[in-house]
Amino acid sequence: MKQRTVFKTLTLGLAAAFCAATLPAAAQQAKIKVGLMLPYSGTYAALGHAITNGFKLHVAENGGKLGGREIEYFVVDDESDPAKATENTNKLVKRDQVDVLVGTVHSGVAMGMAKVARETKTLFIVPNAGADELTGALCAPNIFRSSFTNWQPAYAMGKVAAEKGHKKVVTMTWKYAAGAQSTEGFKEAFEKGGGKVVKELTLPFPNVEFQPYLTEIASIKPDAVYVFFAGAGAAKFVKDYAAAGLKNSIPLYGAGFLTDGTLEAMGDSGQGLLTTLHYADGIESKKNNAFRLAYAKTYKMQPDVYAVQGYDAAQLLGAGLAAVKGDIANKDALIKAMEAAKVDSPRGAFTLSKAHNPIQDIYLRKAEGGQNKLVNVSIKGLDDPARGCKM
Ligand code: PHB
Repeated sequence: MKQRTVFKTLTLGLAAAFCAATLPAAAQQAKIKVGLMLPYSGTYAALGHAITNGFKLHVAENGGKLGGREIEYFVVDDESDPAKATENTNKLVKRDQVDVLVGTVHSGVAMGMAKVARETKTLFIVPNAGADELTGALCAPNIFRSSFTNWQPAYAMGKVAAEKGHKKVVTMTWKYAAGAQSTEGFKEAFEKGGGKVVKELTLPFPNVEFQPYLTEIASIKPDAVYVFFAGAGAAKFVKDYAAAGLKNSIPLYGAGFLTDGTLEAMGDSGQGLLTTLHYADGIESKKNNAFRLAYAKTYKMQPDVYAVQGYDAAQLLGAGLAAVKGDIANKDALIKAMEAAKVDSPRGAFTLSKAHNPIQDIYLRKAEGGQNKLVNVSIKGLDDPARGCKM
């Protein structure tokens, strides 16, 4: 053998020996199986796609790997249907035997996923669904969130509305966990600030027959209206609100999902809307600028909060996997590293609370052109109260 070949063989041999010493045999070859359970159809379809894009962008930026291991995707469309949540989750956990479950958008579906994740102790990262219980009464060592609780942006909007001097507000939303908890969060801060929620209007998810409710709002004549809507339904609501002639007479506020990823579909009717959220398009930071550029280049579209949350779910998993050198079976160390992670998010760096929910700034934003422009930081480092979490 030539000297160079001997040297090469030796180095390769040493590298292999090093790998064998640090990782169990099976773990060295196998890819890490990531199960993406998200809505790819229905009113939240665009949200599911944005989360998927964001997650895959971070993995691609790392050469298709996290913690040195290649990533393989298994994908299920959950249709935002809570009735199918257990069956759909089991497709990933039992049939495909994924190492980690990532999902979803809809709070009711996420609650079903959490039940399976708790029973099977599968690592579960929530890249959107705000169900307060996930990092509240149902918190668990294997459940993490890269997004928000329904309480967080809503509470900030309640504070803003009270500070604007509004006294009498009507709320409106879809009748399910996210809508109810968003309304509660708003009400808590708004009433603490001296306001009163005089009427809580709801309609079944994902109905978009808003007209009778708009007529009722017009007859109540509140100082302002607070809503939780998202996705395609949000665009329809804002258009209907303007068409009913309410936009110029009764200010409309929302958790920022109202205008995230939906401004183009709203056209003029969305312009000027004030919302609160843990992301704004115009955040000036190296990380946000790089993220927005890479996302636009890869997907030929602008990112939104959902893309950020997907990206950060991958970053959070990556932090855990890096600490255990890709050995996902080393659960305790993996979880410890994820708990301690400081995620360099496009929204601004965040850490996790004891209940595994981001402690993060909530921004007040104003819709201008195609963007939710940053107005100010409404509440700095807002931590969810994590009611009922014993961990
Ligand atoms: C939820 O169901 O928790 C949910 C759905 C869509 C959003 C935000 C929260 O944009």
